[in-house]
Amino acid sequence: MKFFIDTANLAMIEEANALGILDGVTTNPSLMAKEGISGKENILNHYLTICDIVDGDVSAEVIGITYDEMIKEGEELAALHPQIVVKVPIIKDGIKAIKYFSQKGIRTNCTLIFSAGQALLAAKAGATYVSPFLGRLDDVSTDGLNLIEEIRTIYDNFGFETQILAASVRHSMHIINCAKIGADVVTCPLPPILSLLKHPLTDSGLEQFIKDSQKMK
Ligand code: E4P
Repeated sequence: MKFFIDTANLAMIEEANALGILDGVTTNPSLMAKEGISGKENILNHYLTICDIVDGDVSAEVIGITYDEMIKEGEELAALHPQIVVKVPIIKDGIKAIKYFSQKGIRTNCTLIFSAGQALLAAKAGATYVSPFLGRLDDVSTDGLNLIEEIRTIYDNFGFETQILAASVRHSMHIINCAKIGADVVTCPLPPILSLLKHPLTDSGLEQFIKDSQKMK
């Protein structure tokens, strides 16, 4: 399973990358705005900086919501760097744009997926990734993990190559359950990844080993 970091914060991306387990980065307009990135040139430069830090796929989202806008923006983003994956929302024009990009060999991440039907359409259009939003479904008392299971079943039934990129992942149990279900990728901020390390028996065991190692000197 691949681990992507879900942020546009360069310090967090560098810290995650230094762990040696990072496979890519996802961003969205809200994450870019949170870092104060605005204006076309700054936005494109920020994506380039991220591509320099991480050796893996970097999702960059189109802002336009018409077919023509998405094609123009997506082609520009894809031309920026070979690591860029064009992120497109699951709307009617988005599906048409994903089909166009897939025929052109431009990789896509179909975002804002909240149902199995949406994921099926995105795969039919040739999306490289689909991003079901786990945490946001949980927020409205709907089982986000159940959606990941449904998509896994549908994709396996027909051999779709579209990768399931579990997004809006909030904590370590989301990551573990995604791994059990067979999501291809999880994307989340750094804390849920770091919390995978935590176990009280590891802490107490290490404390004892350090204490006993003093006796070996
Ligand atoms: C990533 O591709 C998504 O945009 C992101 O995971 C959404 O996460 P959130 O629900 O925490 O905003």
